[in-house]
Amino acid sequence: ADSSTGLQEINRITVKNAVVCFVLLPRFLVAAVVFWLLDFLCIRKRFFFRMKEQGGDAIDPPLCISDSNRLFSLESLKAVWHGQKLDFLKAARLGRGAPNTEVVRLQDQRRSRILDCAQGARPLILNFGSSDTAVVYIEEAHPSDGWTSTDAPYQIPKHRSLEERLSAAHLIHLEVPGCLVVADNMENSSSAAYGAYFNRLYIVQEGKVVYQGGRGPEGYRISELRDWLDQHRKELEKTDNNLNV
Ligand SMILES: *[C@@H]1O[C@H](CO)[C@@H](O)[C@H](O)[C@H]1NC(C)=O
Repeated sequence: ADSSTGLQEINRITVKNAVVCFVLLPRFLVAAVVFWLLDFLCIRKRFFFRMKEQGGDAIDPPLCISDSNRLFSLESLKAVWHGQKLDFLKAARLGRGAPNTEVVRLQDQRRSRILDCAQGARPLILNFGSSDTAVVYIEEAHPSDGWTSTDAPYQIPKHRSLEERLSAAHLIHLEVPGCLVVADNMENSSSAAYGAYFNRLYIVQEGKVVYQGGRGPEGYRISELRDWLDQHRKELEKTDNNLNV
Protein backbone atom coordinates (compact mmCIF):
# COMPACT_ATOMS: atom_id res chain seq x y z
CA ALA A 1 0.00 0.00 0.00
CA ASP A 2 2.91 2.32 0.84
CA SER A 3 4.47 2.12 -2.60
CA SER A 4 1.11 2.74 -4.30
CA THR A 5 0.46 5.91 -2.25
CA GLY A 6 4.03 6.94 -3.09
CA LEU A 7 3.25 6.41 -6.76
CA GLN A 8 0.00 8.37 -6.45
CA GLU A 9 1.93 11.22 -4.86
CA ILE A 10 4.44 11.22 -7.72
CA ASN A 11 1.57 11.18 -10.22
CA ARG A 12 -0.10 14.07 -8.46
CA ILE A 13 3.11 16.12 -8.54
CA THR A 14 3.70 15.31 -12.22
CA VAL A 15 0.16 16.36 -13.16
CA LYS A 16 0.51 19.54 -11.11
CA ASN A 17 3.82 20.40 -12.80
CA ALA A 18 2.31 19.75 -16.23
CA VAL A 19 -0.63 22.05 -15.47
CA VAL A 20 1.71 24.76 -14.17
CA CYS A 21 3.84 24.55 -17.33
CA PHE A 22 0.80 24.61 -19.59
CA VAL A 23 -0.73 27.67 -17.91
CA LEU A 24 2.50 29.61 -17.46
CA LEU A 25 4.21 28.94 -20.77
CA PRO A 26 2.36 31.62 -22.80
CA ARG A 27 3.05 34.44 -20.35
CA PHE A 28 6.60 33.24 -19.83
CA LEU A 29 7.24 33.33 -23.58
CA VAL A 30 5.77 36.84 -23.78
CA ALA A 31 8.12 37.97 -20.99
CA ALA A 32 11.06 36.32 -22.77
CA VAL A 33 10.29 38.11 -26.05
CA VAL A 34 9.87 41.44 -24.24
CA PHE A 35 13.25 40.91 -22.51
CA TRP A 36 14.87 40.04 -25.82
CA LEU A 37 13.45 43.18 -27.45
CA LEU A 38 14.47 45.39 -24.53
CA ASP A 39 18.09 44.38 -25.06
CA PHE A 40 18.03 46.56 -28.19
CA LEU A 41 18.96 49.87 -26.62
CA CYS A 42 16.84 51.96 -28.97
CA ILE A 43 13.76 49.92 -28.02
CA ARG A 44 14.67 50.04 -24.33
CA LYS A 45 15.07 53.82 -24.37
CA ARG A 46 11.70 54.26 -26.08
CA PHE A 47 10.00 51.83 -23.75
CA PHE A 48 11.17 53.55 -20.58
CA PHE A 49 10.53 56.97 -22.05
CA ARG A 50 6.92 55.96 -22.75
CA MET A 51 6.56 54.57 -19.25
CA LYS A 52 7.86 57.80 -17.76
CA GLU A 53 5.47 59.85 -19.90
CA GLN A 54 2.49 57.81 -18.80
CA GLY A 55 3.61 58.92 -15.43
CA GLY A 56 2.52 56.89 -12.43
CA ASP A 57 2.53 58.23 -9.01
CA ALA A 58 5.64 60.03 -7.85
CA ILE A 59 6.04 57.83 -4.80
CA ASP A 60 6.09 54.63 -6.83
CA PRO A 61 9.66 53.46 -7.44
CA PRO A 62 10.28 53.86 -11.19
CA LEU A 63 11.36 50.90 -13.27
CA CYS A 64 14.84 51.53 -14.55
CA ILE A 65 17.69 49.47 -15.94
CA SER A 66 21.14 50.74 -16.81
CA ASP A 67 22.12 50.36 -20.44
CA SER A 68 24.87 47.92 -19.50
CA ASN A 69 22.51 45.41 -17.89
CA ARG A 70 21.31 42.76 -20.32
CA LEU A 71 17.82 41.47 -19.69
CA PHE A 72 17.77 38.34 -21.83
CA SER A 73 19.89 35.63 -20.24
CA LEU A 74 19.50 32.14 -18.86
CA GLU A 75 19.63 33.49 -15.30
CA SER A 76 17.04 36.19 -15.89
CA LEU A 77 14.65 33.77 -17.60
CA LYS A 78 15.10 31.29 -14.76
CA ALA A 79 14.29 34.05 -12.28
CA VAL A 80 11.20 35.14 -14.23
CA TRP A 81 9.96 31.55 -14.44
CA HIS A 82 10.55 31.09 -10.70
CA GLY A 83 8.60 34.28 -9.91
CA GLN A 84 5.68 33.43 -12.19
CA LYS A 85 5.48 29.93 -10.74
CA LEU A 86 5.48 31.20 -7.14
CA ASP A 87 2.83 33.74 -8.04
CA PHE A 88 0.65 31.05 -9.61
CA LEU A 89 0.99 28.65 -6.68
CA LYS A 90 0.81 31.19 -3.83
CA ALA A 91 -1.61 30.54 -0.99
CA ALA A 92 -2.30 34.20 -0.12
CA ARG A 93 -5.62 35.43 -1.54
CA LEU A 94 -7.42 38.72 -1.07
CA GLY A 95 -10.12 38.43 1.58
CA ARG A 96 -8.89 35.05 2.82
CA GLY A 97 -6.85 34.15 5.86
CA ALA A 98 -3.21 35.26 5.57
CA PRO A 99 -0.69 32.37 5.52
CA ASN A 100 1.09 32.37 8.86
CA THR A 101 4.50 31.30 7.64
CA GLU A 102 7.70 30.95 9.62
CA VAL A 103 10.13 33.88 9.68
CA VAL A 104 13.38 34.56 11.51
CA ARG A 105 13.78 37.61 13.72
CA LEU A 106 16.96 39.56 13.21
CA GLN A 107 17.67 40.63 16.77
CA ASP A 108 17.87 37.15 18.34
CA GLN A 109 17.68 34.84 15.30
CA ARG A 110 14.64 33.17 16.86
CA ARG A 111 12.00 31.61 14.65
CA SER A 112 8.57 33.16 14.89
CA ARG A 113 5.42 33.54 12.78
CA ILE A 114 4.79 36.28 10.26
CA LEU A 115 1.43 37.28 11.81
CA ASP A 116 3.17 37.78 15.16
CA CYS A 117 4.50 41.00 13.60
CA ALA A 118 0.96 42.43 13.80
CA GLN A 119 0.00 44.77 16.62
CA GLY A 120 -3.59 44.01 17.55
CA ALA A 121 -6.17 45.03 14.96
CA ARG A 122 -3.88 47.55 13.25
CA PRO A 123 -3.18 46.86 9.57
CA LEU A 124 0.11 45.04 9.15
CA ILE A 125 2.01 46.07 6.05
CA LEU A 126 4.10 43.25 4.63
CA ASN A 127 6.76 44.53 2.29
CA PHE A 128 8.49 41.60 0.65
CA GLY A 129 11.90 42.07 -0.87
CA SER A 130 12.05 45.86 -0.86
CA SER A 131 13.33 48.24 1.73
CA ASP A 132 10.59 50.90 1.84
CA THR A 133 8.63 50.06 5.02
CA ALA A 134 8.40 47.03 7.32
CA VAL A 135 10.18 44.29 5.57
CA VAL A 136 10.18 40.55 5.08
CA TYR A 137 13.55 39.82 3.56
CA ILE A 138 13.30 36.95 1.06
CA GLU A 139 15.58 35.34 -1.50
CA GLU A 140 17.60 37.83 -3.56
CA ALA A 141 16.02 38.94 -6.84
CA HIS A 142 19.44 39.86 -8.25
CA PRO A 143 22.07 37.70 -6.56
CA SER A 144 25.61 38.42 -7.66
CA ASP A 145 25.91 34.78 -8.79
CA GLY A 146 22.55 34.65 -10.57
CA TRP A 147 20.67 37.31 -12.52
CA THR A 148 23.09 40.06 -11.65
CA SER A 149 22.28 43.74 -11.88
CA THR A 150 24.70 46.60 -11.45
CA ASP A 151 21.65 48.71 -10.46
CA ALA A 152 21.15 46.67 -7.29
CA PRO A 153 22.23 48.65 -4.20
CA TYR A 154 24.27 45.69 -2.89
CA GLN A 155 25.99 42.78 -4.56
CA ILE A 156 24.78 39.80 -2.53
CA PRO A 157 25.23 36.17 -3.63
CA LYS A 158 22.41 33.60 -3.30
CA HIS A 159 22.05 32.81 0.38
CA ARG A 160 23.50 29.39 1.06
CA SER A 161 22.70 29.46 4.76
CA LEU A 162 20.45 31.23 7.20
CA GLU A 163 23.48 33.16 8.52
CA GLU A 164 24.13 34.58 5.07
CA ARG A 165 20.48 35.53 4.68
CA LEU A 166 20.38 37.20 8.09
CA SER A 167 23.53 39.20 7.48
CA ALA A 168 22.09 40.44 4.18
CA ALA A 169 18.85 41.33 5.98
CA HIS A 170 20.96 43.37 8.42
CA LEU A 171 21.99 45.64 5.56
CA ILE A 172 18.34 46.42 4.94
CA HIS A 173 17.72 46.96 8.60
CA LEU A 174 20.48 49.58 8.57
CA GLU A 175 18.64 51.42 5.78
CA VAL A 176 15.29 51.44 7.60
CA PRO A 177 16.28 51.37 11.27
CA GLY A 178 12.76 52.21 12.47
CA CYS A 179 11.20 49.22 10.77
CA LEU A 180 10.72 45.69 11.91
CA VAL A 181 12.75 43.45 9.63
CA VAL A 182 12.35 39.68 9.62
CA ALA A 183 13.87 37.17 7.23
CA ASP A 184 12.21 34.32 5.37
CA ASN A 185 13.34 30.85 6.43
CA MET A 186 15.60 28.82 4.14
CA GLU A 187 12.62 26.84 2.80
CA ASN A 188 11.47 30.23 1.47
CA SER A 189 8.03 29.59 2.99
CA SER A 190 6.88 33.20 3.00
CA SER A 191 8.13 33.89 -0.51
CA ALA A 192 6.15 30.88 -1.72
CA ALA A 193 2.97 31.42 0.30
CA TYR A 194 2.72 35.08 -0.71
CA GLY A 195 4.09 34.78 -4.26
CA ALA A 196 6.42 37.51 -3.10
CA TYR A 197 9.35 37.14 -5.50
CA PHE A 198 10.76 39.61 -6.86
CA ASN A 199 8.96 41.99 -4.52
CA ARG A 200 5.40 42.57 -3.40
CA LEU A 201 3.23 44.49 -0.95
CA TYR A 202 0.46 43.13 1.26
CA ILE A 203 -1.72 44.46 4.04
CA VAL A 204 -2.98 41.97 6.59
CA GLN A 205 -5.57 42.85 9.18
CA GLU A 206 -6.85 40.56 11.91
CA GLY A 207 -5.30 37.61 10.13
CA LYS A 208 -6.91 38.38 6.76
CA VAL A 209 -5.35 39.60 3.52
CA VAL A 210 -7.04 42.98 2.94
CA TYR A 211 -4.70 44.28 0.25
CA GLN A 212 -2.67 42.25 -2.23
CA GLY A 213 -0.32 44.23 -4.43
CA GLY A 214 0.76 43.13 -7.88
CA ARG A 215 3.91 41.14 -8.53
CA GLY A 216 6.97 43.37 -8.49
CA PRO A 217 8.72 45.15 -9.96
CA GLU A 218 5.98 46.22 -12.43
CA GLY A 219 3.13 45.67 -9.98
CA TYR A 220 4.86 47.12 -6.91
CA ARG A 221 2.83 50.28 -6.16
CA ILE A 222 3.34 52.19 -2.96
CA SER A 223 0.62 54.60 -4.15
CA GLU A 224 -1.97 51.78 -3.95
CA LEU A 225 -0.85 51.04 -0.41
CA ARG A 226 -1.12 54.71 0.53
CA ASP A 227 -4.60 54.94 -1.02
CA TRP A 228 -5.73 51.89 0.93
CA LEU A 229 -4.42 53.36 4.19
CA ASP A 230 -6.06 56.75 3.45
CA GLN A 231 -9.36 55.02 2.84
CA HIS A 232 -8.96 52.98 5.98
CA ARG A 233 -8.23 56.09 8.03
CA LYS A 234 -11.33 57.82 6.67
CA GLU A 235 -13.48 54.86 7.62
CA LEU A 236 -12.02 54.86 11.11
CA GLU A 237 -12.73 58.59 11.47
CA LYS A 238 -16.30 58.01 10.30
CA THR A 239 -16.95 55.33 12.91
CA ASP A 240 -15.25 57.52 15.54
CA ASN A 241 -17.57 60.42 14.68
CA ASN A 242 -20.61 58.16 14.78
CA LEU A 243 -19.62 56.94 18.22
CA ASN A 244 -19.17 60.52 19.45
CA VAL A 245 -22.64 61.64 18.33
C1 LIG B 1 15.47 29.32 -1.11
O1 LIG B 1 16.14 30.39 -1.74
C2 LIG B 1 17.53 30.23 -1.92
C3 LIG B 1 18.07 31.49 -2.59
O2 LIG B 1 18.25 32.51 -1.66
C4 LIG B 1 17.81 28.99 -2.76
O3 LIG B 1 19.20 28.82 -2.91
C5 LIG B 1 17.18 27.79 -2.09
O4 LIG B 1 17.35 26.65 -2.91
C6 LIG B 1 15.70 28.02 -1.85
N1 LIG B 1 15.17 26.92 -1.08
C7 LIG B 1 14.16 26.16 -1.50
C8 LIG B 1 13.74 25.06 -0.60
O5 LIG B 1 13.63 26.35 -2.58
